[in-house]
Amino acid sequence: MKDIEKSIGSCDDLKELENLRVSLFGKKGYFADAFAKMRTMGDEEKKQFAQDINVDKEKFLNLLAHKKLALEADAIAYEMQKDGVDVTLFNSDTGVGALHPVMQTMDKIIEYFVSMNFSIEEGPLVEDDFHNFEALNLPKYHPARDMQDTFYFEDSMLLRTHTSPVQIRTMLKAKPPIRMICPGAVFRRDYDLTHTPMFHQVEGLVVQKSGEVSFANLKFILEDFLKYMFGDVQVRFRPSFFPFTEPSAEVDISCIFCKGKGCRVCSHTGWLEVLGSGYVDPNVFQAVGYEDVSGYAFGLGVERFAMLLHKIPDLRSLFEGDLRLLEQFR
Ligand code: DAH
Repeated sequence: MKDIEKSIGSCDDLKELENLRVSLFGKKGYFADAFAKMRTMGDEEKKQFAQDINVDKEKFLNLLAHKKLALEADAIAYEMQKDGVDVTLFNSDTGVGALHPVMQTMDKIIEYFVSMNFSIEEGPLVEDDFHNFEALNLPKYHPARDMQDTFYFEDSMLLRTHTSPVQIRTMLKAKPPIRMICPGAVFRRDYDLTHTPMFHQVEGLVVQKSGEVSFANLKFILEDFLKYMFGDVQVRFRPSFFPFTEPSAEVDISCIFCKGKGCRVCSHTGWLEVLGSGYVDPNVFQAVGYEDVSGYAFGLGVERFAMLLHKIPDLRSLFEGDLRLLEQFR
C-alpha cells in the first residue's frame, strides 16, 4: 500500500492515475480482494479489519480525487500555453458598452415619475387570464380582446400583452392611496415596421379616496411629463376607448418633425399619438374589491418614445443589435 501511495504522489499522467485507481477500486483490485478475505474471518477480527480497511479506502479516494483535480488543472494550463492564450492580456479593441436606447428612454421616463413621487412596481411576464384581461374589464369573448394578439400557453396562462395587469396586482396587495408606475416587457403576435413581438411599456396608476383625483390631475401630469420628454410640444387629449378606463383619452403631441405643419411621419395631421389614458373604470375597482375611490391610469410604449426622440424610422432596427446604430448611443 505504501508503494501505491507513492505512485499516486508521483503520478503525472491522467491515464496512469486511472490505472492506479483500477488497481485499488476495480473489480479485481486491492479493496475487492480485501473485502473477499473478510468473509473467512471470525467476528472480532472482521470488525477490526473492516474499520482499518474503511479508513484506507477513504484515504485513497481522497488522494485520487486530489491528484485528478491537480492533473486536470495542469492539462488546461498546458493547452492554454500551447495555443498562446494569455488571459491576462488587455484587449484594447474592446469597445466601451452603453445602455440600449430603449433602456435610456425607459430610464428618462422612470426618472420623471419617480420625481413625482410614483413608486415602481413589477409583475410577472407570464400572466393569467384574470390579471391580464378579466379584472381589467375585458371578459372572455369581449371584442376588445382582439386589440391585443396574445401568445397563449397550454394551461390558460399567457405572455402579458400589456403592463396593465400590474395595476391589478398592486391594488390587490395594497390599500389606496396608490401612486405607481410599472415599466416592463410585453408581448404580442405582431411584426412589421411599427410592431415587434416583444416591446416595452410603462403603465401608470393613481388611486385615491373618491373625489380626490380628477381628470384635470391626469391632464396636468401627462402634459408636464410629455414636455419633460419632448421639450416644447403641444399636447392634445382625444376621446378614445379602453375597457379599463371610462372616459378614456388618447394623448397626442404636436409632430416633432414638422412642428405641427404636417409631414409624412404624422400622416399630414400635425399630431403624433403617444399615450393611452383615462379615468379608471368602476368595474376594475370592483374586480379588486375597492370602494369609494377614484383614479386615473395611463400606458405608453417605450420603443415608440425612443423612435420619436431619436428619429429612428424602423422599430425593428432597435432589436437587431447593429453596432452602427447602437454606437451612436454611447
Ligand atoms: N394597456 C393599454 C395597451 O396596451 C395601454 C393603456 C391605455 C394603459 C390606457 C392604460 C390606460 O392604463 O389607461 O394598449
